[in-house]
Amino acid sequence: MPYLHYDHDVLKLEDTVLDELADAHGTPLFVYSESQIRDNFQAMQTAFVGVPHLICYAVKANSNPEILRLLAEMGAGADAVSVGEMWLALKAGIPPERIVFAGVGKRDDEIEFAIQQNIRGLNVESEMELQVVAEIAARLQRRARVSLRINPDIDIHGHPYISTGRHKDKFGIALDTARRLITEYRGHPQIQLVGLHAHIGSQITEILPYRKLGEVMRDMAVFAAQQGHRLEYIDVGGGLGVRYEPQGDERHFRHDWQGVNELAIEPKAVADALLTSLRQLELPILFEPGRSLVANAGVLITRVLYLKETGGKRFVIVDAGMTELVRPSLYSAYHAIVPLHWREGEAVRADVVGPICESGDFLARDRQLPPVQRGDLRAVLTAGAYGYSLSSNYNAGLRPAEILVHGSSHRVIRQRQPLDVLIK
Ligand SMILES: Cc1ncc(COP(=O)(O)O)c(C=O)c1O
Repeated sequence: MPYLHYDHDVLKLEDTVLDELADAHGTPLFVYSESQIRDNFQAMQTAFVGVPHLICYAVKANSNPEILRLLAEMGAGADAVSVGEMWLALKAGIPPERIVFAGVGKRDDEIEFAIQQNIRGLNVESEMELQVVAEIAARLQRRARVSLRINPDIDIHGHPYISTGRHKDKFGIALDTARRLITEYRGHPQIQLVGLHAHIGSQITEILPYRKLGEVMRDMAVFAAQQGHRLEYIDVGGGLGVRYEPQGDERHFRHDWQGVNELAIEPKAVADALLTSLRQLELPILFEPGRSLVANAGVLITRVLYLKETGGKRFVIVDAGMTELVRPSLYSAYHAIVPLHWREGEAVRADVVGPICESGDFLARDRQLPPVQRGDLRAVLTAGAYGYSLSSNYNAGLRPAEILVHGSSHRVIRQRQPLDVLIK
């Protein structure tokens, strides 16, 4: 049985009844399943079994300190994109040698922090950044552990905002420039080229891009070795997609999730596609999943405030919106929305919208919804990744609480923000 399921028409996550949590802790509310996160991580580990590897959780997907601690205890490393994420990872008990640091716009103080902490690798994204890293390392009298982020020019056919490995994207270093830098930085006193990195995008639902990525990385690694570098690892980024949309009609959720919450592709298939080319290098593989570790572990619980009909349209106005879950507004992303208590009645076609003063504030558009009335509780599914971490205080709203359930027990892993955060 999936961790998220109906028990006599009452929605549970593991053995925890969700509406009891909503009543006790208020809404909007993020709730995550510990067992689901554990299973997801284990599936990644199993996918690469037999090959030296490190799963570096992409902290940006959900940076709750308790979730980081859970993954740290299971042996995860971290993919960080800011000094804040590196700091959170260290605080959660992830040792520096399991942390990598990416990002096109690293500030000098962030580079300095990474060098001082002696993290596994700084994933450098441009020639100018490499020069700056060398200067900072010289000032610190250190040799920086650097990995070049390659832009392999691979199209994942996804949303343009989450495609990162095409020539025209801002990320990474073009292949010809990477080759030149690899040649020029041979034996450099301040730069130790320890790895190669790429991350081609998020919400990837096909295997082929990973196969191509493996080939490009292998060729570049062979070239680096020919130039005299002793690479220590290949970092293939993350991106594995999750199914947000049902394969059928949402009204049938009462009996069947129809693929929602499952991974779009099997971790083992991704690993095999990558390893077809990479295995021969006999180097450890770093994999940086974010979404696929936490998305299906989380739901966002929201309460129906009002029903409204205007301009020939129906609106269900709920107490969560783009400030809690911006993905629908930002990427037109689909999230299934289900009742916490299923009851009989007439289905309604409506937009599900939040309280924020923006017309772009919606969770669902033109959706066929089960019977709904004021006061109902709804769960927005697959909300564990890029939910809370992309949330905001816009309209002077307060960020919601986060709860981690395990079996029939639960604990608050982040308190709802109090009003005085708005003046601090
Ligand atoms: C460098 C890097 N690695 C890993 C990830 C994680 O991607 P995903 O959550 O799709 O697995 C991202 C996401 O943007 C990223 O930028």
